[in-house]
Amino acid sequence: MKVCRTRAIASTTSSRNKNANTTNFATYMNIFNKLHDYIDDNFELFVKRLTQWLSIPSISTLPANRKEVSEAALWILDQLEAAGLNDATVIETKGHPLVFGQKLVNPDLPTLLIYGHYDVQPVDPLEEWITPPFSPDIRDGAIYARGASDDKGQVLLVLFAIEAWTRTAGAVPVNIKVVLEGEEESSGDAIEKYVTANPEMFSADAVLICDTPMMSATQPSIITSLRGIVYSEIAMSGASSDLHSGSYGGVAPNPVHGLCLLLGKLKQEDGVIRIPELQKALDDSSAPTRAELDYWQQNGRAIRAELCRTMGVTQLVGETERPPLECIGLRPTLEIHGIRGGFVGEGEKTVIPAKALAKVSLRVPPGLDPDKVAEWFTKAVRDNSPQGYETETRILHIGRGLAVDPENSYFRAAVRALEKTYGKGPLLTREGGSIPVAALFNEILQIPVILMGFGLPDDNLHAPNEKFSLEQFRRGIKTVALFLKEIT
Ligand code: BES
Ligand code: MN
Ligand code: MN
Repeated sequence: MKVCRTRAIASTTSSRNKNANTTNFATYMNIFNKLHDYIDDNFELFVKRLTQWLSIPSISTLPANRKEVSEAALWILDQLEAAGLNDATVIETKGHPLVFGQKLVNPDLPTLLIYGHYDVQPVDPLEEWITPPFSPDIRDGAIYARGASDDKGQVLLVLFAIEAWTRTAGAVPVNIKVVLEGEEESSGDAIEKYVTANPEMFSADAVLICDTPMMSATQPSIITSLRGIVYSEIAMSGASSDLHSGSYGGVAPNPVHGLCLLLGKLKQEDGVIRIPELQKALDDSSAPTRAELDYWQQNGRAIRAELCRTMGVTQLVGETERPPLECIGLRPTLEIHGIRGGFVGEGEKTVIPAKALAKVSLRVPPGLDPDKVAEWFTKAVRDNSPQGYETETRILHIGRGLAVDPENSYFRAAVRALEKTYGKGPLLTREGGSIPVAALFNEILQIPVILMGFGLPDDNLHAPNEKFSLEQFRRGIKTVALFLKEIT
C-alpha cells in the first residue's frame, strides 16, 4: 500500500523536476567517485601525516610534556587549514589549548560541530611496547603508536574527509565547526569552561564525535550511550609512623589492609556494588531496548567468547548472571586503578605502613546523576571504613554519561553513510567508556550527538601497543565524507 502511494506521488512530479533529480543523482555519483579516488590516491600521504602527528608525545597528564602537547596543537592547526577551514586558531586556556576552525558555506545549510582530542594517555609500562610508543610502526595492516586510535587517527580521518571535499568539490557540502581539546585524557575543564562561556561560537545542529570503537571491522556500529564517571582517591592512615611488624603486628592498624577491607566490602565477588542509594537509583535508570535484549540473548555465547579473546582471559567476572554488554553499557562499576602503600621493593621488609592510598573510580550508567553517585560513594566509604583508621575520600573528577536519541535525521544519516561504506547497516551499541564533554554539548547546545567511531575493540586503548587499523582509517575517511553529504 505504502509503496504504491509513494509511486503515485512520484509519478505526478513534473518532468522538469524529474530531470533535476536525475542530474542531481548523476552529480552526486560523480562527486562520490571523485571523493573516493581522491582518498585512495592520497591514502599513503594521509598515513604519513598521521605518522608525523603520532610522533609528538602529547601526554596531557604529565607536566613534563607540556611543550609537546602545545606542539601537537600547532601541528593539527596546520591540518585544519589544509582541510580548507577558516579562522583556524589555537585558543590558550588555563590548561592545554583548544584548537578551533570553521567553514561556513551557506547559512541555509545545517552546521556540523566536530569534536576530538589531540592529547594521549601515558605510555607505561614502556617495556611492554613492541615498538616505541612515539615511533609509529606499521605492521599487520595497522599503525602502532600511543594515540593511534584514541584519538589522533580518528581526528585526522575527519579532517581528511573535509580535505577531500575541499580538494574535489571546492568546499564542504555543509557548514563545519571543528573543536579539539588537549586535556580529555586528564580530566581538564578548559573546554567545558570555554564552551559554557561562548555557546554561540559552537552553535550547531549536531555534533560528530569519532572517539569510540565499532563492533568489528565487518560489523559497523553507532554508540547509543556512554557511562559517566566519578574518579576518587581514598587516603587511609593508621599509626603516626611506620612500625616494626614484629613489635606491633596484631594490634596496629595496617592501612593497606584497611583499604582491602573497605574495598572488599564496597564490591564483593558477585560484582554488586554495595552502595544502597546507588542500587535503589538503578531501578529507574536507562533500560535496554527490546532489540538489545534480543541481540544479547541470541549472541550471548559469541559475545562472551569475543570479550574473553580481546581481554586475554578464560572467563568473565562480576555480575555474571547478567549479559556482559549490559554490565559494560548500563551497569555501574567500581574499579581500583592502583594502591600505593608499604613496601613493594625487591627483597623483604617487615613494616606496617602508616599510610595507604587507593585510586578508585565508579562508572555511572547514562541515566544517573554522577554528582549524586559521588555523594553516595563518599558516604559508603565512611560507613564501611574499618574501626581504628582515618579515611578521607577526595573526588578528583566527575563526568556525566550520555544517552543518545537515535530518532533524528543526523543519526539516520550516519546509519546510511556506514551502510554505504561497509555494505551493512550498523548495530546500535552502548559503550562503557566516558567522553564527558559529549554530555555538555547535548545539554548546553541542545543538539544531537553522533558517536560514530572507527576504532576496533582490540585497539589497546590506554594500554601498551595501541594501534589503529589502516583499513578502518581509510573507510573512516570515506564514511565521514559521505556523512557530510547525507546531512544536507
Ligand atoms: N575515547 C575514550 C572514551 C571511550 C573509550 C569511549 C572506549 C568508549 C569506549 C576517551 O578518550 C577516554 O578514555 N575517556 C576517559 C575519560 C576520563 C579520563 C574522564 C575514560 O573513559 O576513562
Ligand atoms: Mn578518546
Ligand atoms: Mn582515552
